[in-house]
Order: sequence, then C-alpha cells, then structure tokens
Amino acid sequence: MSTIGVIGTGYVGLVSGTCFSEVGHQVICCDIDEAKIAKLQRAEIPIYEPGLEELVKRNTNLNRLSFSSDIASVIHRSDVIFIAVGTPMSPSGEADLSYVRAAAAAIGQSIRDYKVIVTKSTVPVGTGRLVQEIIRSNQSDPSIPFDVASNPEFLREGSAVHDCMNMERAVIGATSDRAAEIIARLHDPFRTTIFKTSLESAEMIKYAANTFLAAKISFINAIANICERVGADVTEVAKGMGLDSRIGNKFLQAGIGYGGSCFPKDTHALKHIADVSGYDFKLLEAVIETNDKQRMLVIEKLEKAIGNLTDKKIAVLGLAFKPNTNDVREAPSLTLIPKLLEKGARVQAYDPIAVEEARCYLPDSVVYTQDLYDAVRDCDACVILTEWKEVVTMELDHIRELLRKPVIIDGRNCFALERMRQEGFEYYSIGRPE
Ligand code: NAD
Ligand code: UGA
Repeated sequence: MSTIGVIGTGYVGLVSGTCFSEVGHQVICCDIDEAKIAKLQRAEIPIYEPGLEELVKRNTNLNRLSFSSDIASVIHRSDVIFIAVGTPMSPSGEADLSYVRAAAAAIGQSIRDYKVIVTKSTVPVGTGRLVQEIIRSNQSDPSIPFDVASNPEFLREGSAVHDCMNMERAVIGATSDRAAEIIARLHDPFRTTIFKTSLESAEMIKYAANTFLAAKISFINAIANICERVGADVTEVAKGMGLDSRIGNKFLQAGIGYGGSCFPKDTHALKHIADVSGYDFKLLEAVIETNDKQRMLVIEKLEKAIGNLTDKKIAVLGLAFKPNTNDVREAPSLTLIPKLLEKGARVQAYDPIAVEEARCYLPDSVVYTQDLYDAVRDCDACVILTEWKEVVTMELDHIRELLRKPVIIDGRNCFALERMRQEGFEYYSIGRPE
C-alpha cells in the first residue's frame, strides 16, 4: 500500500484522507493551521460530519492515519500527495488559487524523489499545469521527476464519509499513464468506476458537475415560482418529473436555493472561466440570479403574512446551509437574519450544531436557544431555513401553542399541506398552494 500525504485538512482533506486510511492506506494529513492539527492529534474532530470521529479514532489507533503540521516531512514520507486546500471565491468571482500555489511551492521545495501530486481541490482548467510549473520552479534539483494529476472530490457535507466510502466514480486526469495508474490503484479498495481522462477534462468535470446540479436546483425553484402563480404543487411536479430516468428524482427539492461552500463559489468561478474564454454563459448567469432571488422569498412571504416586521419577534430554525453539518458558509441564514434585523425584527435562532459557527458572522443582537421550542416561544412567526431532523419532527401542536400567531414560513417544504391545515397553521412554503 502507498503512503498518502494530504495537504489541507479541511472538510475534503480530513474526510478523504480518513477514508483512504479506512481502506488500508497509510495516510498523513497536514495543515498550516497548527491548532487544527493539535486538536486532531488529540482525536478532537474540528468539523461536524456524521461517522467521521469513529473512523478517525479507529485509524489513528491502528497507526494508519496521522496528523502533522510539518509539511516538508509529510512530503518526504509520501508517495502520492493530494492537495486539498481551499479555493475560495475572490471578489471577481474567480477561484482564489493562492492556497494551491503555496501548497505547490512547498511541495517543490521538499521533493527528493518521484511523487505523484494530485489536486483534489476544485480548480479552474489549467491549474494542474500551473501546479507543475510552480513545483518545477521551486525544485532545488530539477532532475527529480514528478507527475501532476487531477482527482476532483464529489463528496457532500453531511454525508461526506458515506459519499467517500461509496464513491460513484473516481475521475483521474494525469500527465502520465504511470501516475494515472498509481491513483487508480489507490482507489481499488473502493471498487468504484475509474474514469481516466486528460488533466484539463478532469478539472472541467468538477465544475460542470457542480454547476449542473446547481442548475437543476435553480430550475426546480423557477418552476416552483410558476407553480405558486398557477396553483400547481412543485413537490408533485418534481415527483412526476423525477420518474423519468433521464431526469432523475435527485436535486429537484425546491426551496430557498443552494448555499454552502461550493455551489455559490463554483458557479461564479465557472462563469468567470467562461467570460475569460470568450463564451457568454447566460444560462449559468440565470442559475446564479435565480438562486440569489430565491432566498429573499422568505422575507416577502413573511411580510405578506404578518405585515411590517418592526418589533416583531421571529424564530429562525436552522442556521447551517444544509442538515447534518455545522458549515454556515453561504448559508441562507447569514443573509436572511441580517435582513430581518435591518427591518426591525428581533430574532431567536435555533440550530442543533451550527450556533458557534453562525455566531461569528451574525450581529450580536441575535438570541440563540439550545432548545428548538425556546426559539419559537412568544414569536410572531417561525421561519424554517434548514430541514434538520429536529425541525421536520418537531411537535406541531406544541409549536402552535408557543407562537403568538400560528404562522410558519417554510423555506424547505418540510411538512404536508394537509397536515398543516389540520394543525391550524397559516403555512407558507415554496411552490405549493397556500
Ligand atoms: P476547508 O477550508 O475546510 O479546508 C482547507 C484547509 O486547507 C484548511 O484547514 C486550511 O488551513 C488548509 N490550508 C490552506 N493552505 C494550506 C497550505 N499551504 N498547506 C497546508 N494546509 C493549507 O476547505 P474544504 O471545504 O475542505 O475544500 C477544499 C477544496 O475542496 C475546495 O477547492 C473545495 O471547493 C473542494 N471541495 C469541497 C467539498 C466540500 O464539501 N467542502 C466537496 C468537494 C470539493
Ligand atoms: C455539493 C455537491 O453535491 C457535491 O457533489 C460536491 O462535491 C460539493 O458540493 C462540493 O463541491 O463541495 P454540498 O454543497 O456539500 O455538496 O451539499 P448538497 O447536498 O449538494 O447541497 C448544496 C445546497 O443545495 C444546499 O444548500 C441544499 O440545501 C441545496 N439543495 C440541494 C436544494 O436546495 N435542493 C436540492 O434538491 C438539493
């Protein structure tokens, strides 16, 4: 089994590194964030991801997984090095490659023998070649051989361990057959489909996949908005559409749009790539615009239901961008809560996991509760932003008793219309009859 080094121990680096160790590889994860590495060395997991803690503990105990902040030593000890650092959105929408560049420079300065350098981060086409150049220009001995490759990651937060252990495909774009074969063999234990392609196509596949999924969401949200106007129910429409295997039933959940660390940034990044390449990607522009407008529906529906928001107390259920994660990057809560406050409302917020993360970005006036029912107590309306299990299974009769007015604005279509009518709520959801 090869020794794998992972540079960048965030959501992707930690989960994929851990899963590689789970199937038997020797893995060393490293990060410039020394506090994060120190935590991991104490078996404290810096992110909330179901099933991850158990896997980290098991594999560290078996001495297959370790953590280090000594990047040079990790490079020396590894045969294959994955770059899994962040590629955040820069103000122009372009992917910020500064972390990738820094990782590549560190690799160049430290390699002493043949290595395969694999970019797992989501990066624009051409980045693999850039990594190759940076490594070359940082090598003290340019005769030391290496190959670069792209092996994008497709896991979802909240089900990352499951997605990684049961990956549907491994896309591998490499500069040599030797490197492609080494990466393919690393994936043998996952018994997945291996798709070998060029470096450039592998890089493009990741953006095309993410933006296609984002487009599916914006499409169903646009259909939802029409459904509201013509009296159809988008959940029924999505079901009926999804029965066609060419369409599929996934990613047709209408709501307040996509958030998270990837779809917003990757749609903007691909738009930027298209612009620079001279292609006017109007379709993608519409996907982004539809998404930006979609989350504002919550405010519109709230004002329609209870009027002016000044001095109204609003319960917000869900701060994370999706359930089963504490990630609040680009979460609807971060734009909607400040908007509610701006309009004079007071906000009581509940999230089972993501309060500490959200607190860093939200104004101090937000009141956080540990209990879902405490957030709802004495509120003029309740707004659902994340379909946490705790929210979907909340006791509706108790919620009705606690609210000043039985108004729920559900941005995630958590409840059946008939049930909400029977429970006596004024229930406003997305793309369904009121
Ligand atoms: P993250 O911010 O959670 O983690 C990145 C880590 O890299 C951080 O811990 C940071 O300290 C570290 N880092 C930065 N520069 C470094 C350096 N020079 N050396 C060592 N460590 C360094 O990011 P993430 O969510 O894991 O995303 C990483 C990449 O994977 C991005 O390109 C993202 O688009 C892509 N991706 C993310 C997901 C996801 O669900 N989060 C899924 C698929 C792909
Ligand atoms: C997404 C992709 O699904 C992963 O394949 C990819 O690896 C990852 O981005 C990435 O590149 O980082 P993630 O953002 O973790 O994963 O979560 P998703 O489950 O895709 O949800 C993204 C957003 O879309 C969430 O805000 C979710 O609420 C929203 N969504 C999803 C909908 O509004 N409707 C749907 O039908 C599905």
